[in-house]
Amino acid sequence: MRSRDQKSSKSTVGVIVMKLFLDTANVEEIRQAAAWGVIEGVTTNPSLAARENEEFSVILPRICDLVNGPISAEVIALDHEGMIAEARQLSKIHANVNIKIPITPEGMQAVKVLAKEGIKTNVTLVFSANQALLAARAGAGYVSPFIGRLDDIGHDGVALVEEIVTLFNIHGLATEVIAASIRHTAHVPQVALAGAHIATVPFKVLKQMFNHPLTESGIERFLADWEKAVKK
Ligand code: G3P
Repeated sequence: MRSRDQKSSKSTVGVIVMKLFLDTANVEEIRQAAAWGVIEGVTTNPSLAARENEEFSVILPRICDLVNGPISAEVIALDHEGMIAEARQLSKIHANVNIKIPITPEGMQAVKVLAKEGIKTNVTLVFSANQALLAARAGAGYVSPFIGRLDDIGHDGVALVEEIVTLFNIHGLATEVIAASIRHTAHVPQVALAGAHIATVPFKVLKQMFNHPLTESGIERFLADWEKAVKK
């Protein structure tokens, strides 16, 4: 794995340590995953928020209480002034909230202003290296390439993650890459090997990451052997 310049993602041996975020607005899923000790942030979007029964303005502070790490909340406005106004409101909810903004000219105008104000952004709906480059130049804290949606149309989502990471490394861009739209467990090690700083995974995929038939049969065998030994 390549070494990187971004201090926040470096281990003691100087290589990237990919973090796992949970991609959901469901408080119960976040509560469970946080208790397992394996997630360090949460990403949401309007589709995920719309699946919940409560207002997002109620859900977001709860998420911030459960996870002490970056929490992405997305703007709905499409014009830069509207995006900036929403971002300022959302960022007041908690210091860990960062603002998801789509990769559009209006969006990048908003990112530039917000970066100057110290409000971190996560540029979303990224499907090309050019879009990632524009987001980084505007001052985005994160870019989110959507790998599953690219795979859906016959492209290679993981290859895009690798291309963006390589491009950011060559040019010393500090923007972190969040591999998003992850659909299955195989995507997670693939984006880790591609150099993603973060993989944001749905709860179902996070649970599946624990599973292996040899772990399950191994536990059963250990317990059976223990029982036999106790009965001797
Ligand atoms: O983080 C973005 C992600 O939620 C999109 O996933 O499965 O709707 O493509 P999906």
